[in-house]
Amino acid sequence: MKPLAKPSFRAVEWVGNTDGHLLLLDQTRLPSDVVFLECRDVDTVWEAIKTLRVRGAPAIGIAGAYGLCLGLRSEDSMSEDQWFARLNAVADRMITSRPTAVNLAWAVRRVRDVALALRGGGSLEEIEAAMLAEARAIEDEDREMCRSIGRHGASLLANCDNVLTHCNAGGLATSEYGTALAVIFSAVEAGKRLHVWVDETRPLLQGSRLTAWELVQQGISATLICDSMAAQVMREGRVQAVVVGADRIAANGDTANKIGTYGLAQLAAAHGIPFYVAAPTSTFDLSLASGDAIPIEQRDAREITHVFGSPTAPAGVAVYNPAFDVTPARLIRAIVCERGVISPVTTDAIARCAGLRAK
Ligand code: MRU
Repeated sequence: MKPLAKPSFRAVEWVGNTDGHLLLLDQTRLPSDVVFLECRDVDTVWEAIKTLRVRGAPAIGIAGAYGLCLGLRSEDSMSEDQWFARLNAVADRMITSRPTAVNLAWAVRRVRDVALALRGGGSLEEIEAAMLAEARAIEDEDREMCRSIGRHGASLLANCDNVLTHCNAGGLATSEYGTALAVIFSAVEAGKRLHVWVDETRPLLQGSRLTAWELVQQGISATLICDSMAAQVMREGRVQAVVVGADRIAANGDTANKIGTYGLAQLAAAHGIPFYVAAPTSTFDLSLASGDAIPIEQRDAREITHVFGSPTAPAGVAVYNPAFDVTPARLIRAIVCERGVISPVTTDAIARCAGLRAK
């Protein structure tokens, strides 16, 4: 076992106690600049999630949880009724910042529910302290879940495998270690030699800007490709496994992830390559029977018509920009969560695994 270097960054970090603040590594500035955004109010956190300064399903959940704490600092002038009305309003608004990743709503509601459960049983200051403790617990649990996903998933990769990944499901997208990248990190730590194909991930380039950055930092052999090259690389026999993260997994295993994931799963099936999803159970949404009900975020046309501020399309052209797509469960060989490896991916197997979740 050769542990990799601890990442040099934390995507989300709370500094201090209830009067503290949130630090977000501004991922829109990577890889050129490592700049942190200091958030002292809820609106700054909302904007940071909306604009992908912080992104990745678990990371936006953690940021949203801390954001709710920032939005509920008690003011002398606020009555208890006003405070609880604000709690619901801030929680509801926070969840609107991004609709697809269920981790955001899950984490925000978890912190809100702690406050609701304590109503009448303590001062507002005590409730605020309990909310912060819950947000910290969500972050700590995520760290553990990512490590565990890595340990379970590493066994799916063989020595000398070439692994293709899409978007960024690494430390930047979580509390620390990642989900899809945790599988890769863990296999490398166990002594396997791997090579990673990194999809650049249009339109916002999370693959080239973020995943490649993380892999280079860890000294893991990686090659960047345009999304449209994946088919050719697979056809050349250069991919033995695909591993991606997830934003929401429905009860039947259908999985929403970054746009382009569904196409990759189809390509993997056509080439007989196993397609794996790595995600904590906080990404499972058993209230949705299938992926058809997963809300798909639609983003600004400018993300497609402009590259770093310069136009790359004629003014006035129509644009369609869904940020995520849904991969049907039948194309997924296994889902790796902190509880183990779910394979085959069935409604029953998912219910069993998610049922083991502590909260
Ligand atoms: O739009 P993004 O960058 O937030 O999309 C992120 C992804 O699609 C990730 O693969 C997913 O959130 C899993 S992160 C562990």
